[in-house]
Amino acid sequence: MMHWRNLEVLLAAVMVAWAVPSSCLKASPVAPRGDGSWIEGGVSPRANALQQMGAQLSAEAEIYFPWSDEFDAATTRWSVLEAPKVNVVVVPGTAEDVALTIKFANKFHLPFLAYNSAHGAITTLGRMNYGIEIYLSQLSGVEIAADGQTATIGGGTLSKVVTDALWDAGKQTVTGTCECVSALGPALGGGHGWLQGRHGLVADQFVSMDIVLANGTLTTIDESSDLWWAVKGAGHNFGIVTSVTSTIYDIEHSDWAIETLIFTGDKVEEVYQAANDHLLQNGTQPVDIINWSYWLNNPDADPENPVILFWIIQEGVTAVDSAYLQPFLDIGPIVDAPDAGTYLDLAAWTGISADDAPCQKAGLVNPRFPTYLKEYDVAAQREAYDLFASSVGGDSVFNNSLFMFEGYSTQGVKAVDEESAAFAFREDNLLTAPLLSYVPDGEELDEQAKVLGNQLRQILRDGSGSEELHAYVNYAYGDETVEQWYGYEEWRQEKLAMLKEKYDPEGKFSFFGPIA
Ligand SMILES: Cc1cc2nc3c(=O)[nH]c(=O)nc-3n(C[C@H](O)[C@H](O)[C@H](O)COP(=O)(O)OP(=O)(O)OC[C@H]3O[C@@H](n4cnc5c(N)ncnc54)[C@H](O)[C@@H]3O)c2cc1C
Ligand SMILES: *[C@@H]1O[C@H](CO)[C@@H](O)[C@H](O)[C@H]1NC(C)=O
Ligand SMILES: *[C@@H]1O[C@H](CO)[C@@H](O)[C@H](O)[C@H]1NC(C)=O
Ligand SMILES: *[C@@H]1O[C@H](CO)[C@@H](O)[C@H](O)[C@H]1NC(C)=O
Ligand SMILES: *[C@@H]1O[C@H](CO)[C@@H](O)[C@H](O)[C@H]1NC(C)=O
Repeated sequence: MMHWRNLEVLLAAVMVAWAVPSSCLKASPVAPRGDGSWIEGGVSPRANALQQMGAQLSAEAEIYFPWSDEFDAATTRWSVLEAPKVNVVVVPGTAEDVALTIKFANKFHLPFLAYNSAHGAITTLGRMNYGIEIYLSQLSGVEIAADGQTATIGGGTLSKVVTDALWDAGKQTVTGTCECVSALGPALGGGHGWLQGRHGLVADQFVSMDIVLANGTLTTIDESSDLWWAVKGAGHNFGIVTSVTSTIYDIEHSDWAIETLIFTGDKVEEVYQAANDHLLQNGTQPVDIINWSYWLNNPDADPENPVILFWIIQEGVTAVDSAYLQPFLDIGPIVDAPDAGTYLDLAAWTGISADDAPCQKAGLVNPRFPTYLKEYDVAAQREAYDLFASSVGGDSVFNNSLFMFEGYSTQGVKAVDEESAAFAFREDNLLTAPLLSYVPDGEELDEQAKVLGNQLRQILRDGSGSEELHAYVNYAYGDETVEQWYGYEEWRQEKLAMLKEKYDPEGKFSFFGPIA
């Protein structure tokens, strides 16, 4: 690994490297700042200052420069569409290192951005054209309090590390479902997960956190801070969280069961009518039930059209109750496969374990176009399916795409006062989004994807009868409005704007779903 102590040797090379025209850069998301002012004739004051800052960082801290394998690994993202561009990576070893790096960046008017597991795909990230990546990978760890009521989770810890550490101690908490995604990335936008029906969103578990503010001040906040409301749903806008202390629970039910059903596209109406009637039950889906469906191509099952991959997942049992299952069996799936295990198996069952395709960073463009719904509108599901099938089926460049319908149970989410957090969409029940996945091939194709993705979500939105678009900021494409990410209520918008003005008046944290 390249350590900051090697900085002196490296800097000379790097300063030259940054003078190379961007056309000579290899396919890494690095480009020299357009006006060349960073470089200033070889060894710049900034380079010297970076060296001085490096000397103040903890012994564990690292700095990576372009053309190193470490830099490439630390800057590779899950979606390459309008990705941020950075010139240097600082890997803090401590929370104080984060504070020092931000102070340094501010002094030299350099943009900075936290990178966690780099699955953030919102196109507003592309507004970062140069600057410092603060890569949180070393701030990883889980410490369970002696009383067993809380755990302190490092700002750069992956969800799977949290789940496994707690499981070993007979504990669990709400995390995102995907093993390779960080704990804090989802949480700062609310955070959906398997256990939200029991305990609420990931952010609802926060008890206190250490956060570095826009001016480089490291501080500890809890419910007594006015910032507390904002970090639970709009957190990306307010600071870099170096650790969070969250509520944890004894494992109540270690058994989980899943039924994997596959239907052909002609069954869309019947499947989603049954989902409304037997699972969603007017938005009070049983707390132990989660159902997800994906539309995707599976040429073995249907060579012409996407299939409906439908999962019914149940907590506390070794087989899904027939009361939930039978209505779907009656529709006539082409595949029906039960499985049973524990909470730890859920990610692999649903194709989002660390080994699965969605966890790989394969250089693809992966935009999503989310909309929350209260229930399925069967006619809209049909219309969306038909457009999806005709646009992504067969040999289409988009044929690796998914249409995701996530039906978590919601009791825990709705039990929390909706005014208590910046997350604005507790009354919704379903999280839907087409995920158009494709190999990058220029702006025209990106535009085509943007049009198609927006058409697909518009169909669902029209079907919902709602004027408002409720878009989960963590899935957002990036063309939505601030109201569509953080809620339409005037008091929410005023509160967000007031807090932004107080804590980040210069908009240092304005790359991910920016408020202003
Ligand atoms: C395969 C996959 C599965 C997913 N599963 C879920 C899920 O189950 N539930 C869910 O709610 N969402 C899920 N998401 C969406 C996820 O919440 C967002 O993609 C999120 O941005 C990912 O965070 P990250 O750390 O990977 O990304 P990054 O790109 O590293 O981070 C995203 C942004 O978050 C901010 N950030 C990250 N860490 C910190 C920190 N410690 N302090 C301050 N700011 C920080 C930064 O602004 C950064 O730009 C999933 C996404 C993918 C691709
Ligand atoms: C669902 O809600 C509708 C409208 O509020 C009501 O008419 C209907 O009876 C409800 N159905 C169930 C199963 O609760
Ligand atoms: C997608 O299309 C390509 C050709 O463009 C084809 O080779 C591939 O098999 C298709 N994949 C699926 C899942 O249909
Ligand atoms: C279960 O899934 C179906 C389809 O995915 C959805 O209509 C239904 O609302 C889901 N249930 C809940 C409680 O979200
Ligand atoms: C940094 O910002 C916070 C929040 O606005 C403020 O309380 C603190 O005094 C500031 N610190 C410095 C050193 O300016």
